[in-house]
Amino acid sequence: MVTTYTIASGKGGTGKTTLSVNLGTALAALGKETFIMDADMGMANMGIILGLENVPVTLHEVLAGKAKVSEAIYEGPEGVKVVPSGISLQGFQNAEPERLRDVMKEIINHCEILIMDAPAGISRDGVVPLAIADEVILVINPELSSMIDALKTKILTELIGGKVKGFILNRATFENTDVSVKKIQEVLDLEILGLIPEDPNVRRSAAYRQPIIIRYPDSPASVEIKKIAAQIAGVEFEKGKEVRKNDDKFLDKLARSLTKGGD
Ligand SMILES: Nc1ncnc2c1ncn2[C@@H]1O[C@H](COP(=O)(O)OP(=O)(O)OP(=O)(O)O)[C@@H](O)[C@H]1O
Ligand SMILES: [Mg+2]
Repeated sequence: MVTTYTIASGKGGTGKTTLSVNLGTALAALGKETFIMDADMGMANMGIILGLENVPVTLHEVLAGKAKVSEAIYEGPEGVKVVPSGISLQGFQNAEPERLRDVMKEIINHCEILIMDAPAGISRDGVVPLAIADEVILVINPELSSMIDALKTKILTELIGGKVKGFILNRATFENTDVSVKKIQEVLDLEILGLIPEDPNVRRSAAYRQPIIIRYPDSPASVEIKKIAAQIAGVEFEKGKEVRKNDDKFLDKLARSLTKGGD
């Protein structure tokens, strides 16, 4: 069975594109036939962070009725299939977001999982991806404005007949000023699907135009993203070295504090 997800947030810049690309790549690495599609047609970033911004045919041309879906599919890392949007404003103007459902229907004949990267806000092109996915995943940063915008997006999604699966808390700093997971769960009445820390390697990997899970597979954000992917794919997460290292450190510390009364 195919599952389609839309990665949305309400507020801009929470990490939707980063997560769409990395979750898609991680799912492909787990052997799932996965597509990622840039449904953020106005501010198309997916192609840019994957080095695909100069491709001849994009979702824009497909949504303008000028190209076939099959012509806008490109190979990404780990064999993930990418449907980028174009970066030109003219292309965006000609694209008709209402056609997105038809594009989705065609793509799901060829895959197991489709991830759509949604735009921020509640513009015309932003609402369609919320309505057509099986499940919407909200990406929230640990700040009040992000939580409130996510709540609005949840309400809007349900209003138009969509379904929200849960939220991912991204860029967690674990400082006191972070809005807590508990608070977000209470306010949104949603399940947490993952907790990704603030990680400078996210930006570095984007500069290298590679997903962080490929460029820095052991970085803290990569480990958490791979855990979420394993959960979505329904497979056991295989602990990476860095996780065991941390566990060992913790166990060492615990053992020392038990035997020597602390360190
Ligand atoms: N866990 C993280 N740690 C550090 N930086 C991050 C993390 N996640 C995302 N970022 C950075 O935050 C910025 C926004 O990320 P991204 O473009 O993925 O967000 P977005 O929600 O798609 O934005 P937009 O709403 O503009 O489409 C980028 O510079 C990215 O490198
Ligand atoms: Mg984006």
